[in-house]
Amino acid sequence: MALFSWSDDFNVGSKFIDDDHKKLVKLVNDFHDAMEQGRGNDVVGKVLHNLVIYTKEHFQREESEMQRINYPRYLAHKLEHDQLISEVAQLQKSFADGRAMLTVKISKFLRDWLVSHIQQTDRLLATALH
Ligand SMILES: [Fe+2]
Repeated sequence: MALFSWSDDFNVGSKFIDDDHKKLVKLVNDFHDAMEQGRGNDVVGKVLHNLVIYTKEHFQREESEMQRINYPRYLAHKLEHDQLISEVAQLQKSFADGRAMLTVKISKFLRDWLVSHIQQTDRLLATALH
């Protein structure tokens, strides 16, 4: 069962951001489902990899827009992105080295991060883009 679903409440009012976020919700759910269904490490690792790739692309799109409008909160916003990417990269490394398991605790962490980042940080950005 999906970990969470898209809610109109997540709309920040910028089409490219909302479209990206819808896809991210799907990818976090895919990752969660793969673990819940007891998929092998290779499959779970690959699904996480896809999620990371898309997340980086999405962050890049937001960051380009921030630079384009000379967004005053750029550095703080980018820091949130960078911290998440580095946390997940560490996780992927521990998993690849066999030092850690990927568990639903991680998908829940990603869900909570995404929801709170959307509702606070991205909402401020969307307002500035208007
Ligand atoms: Fe963001």
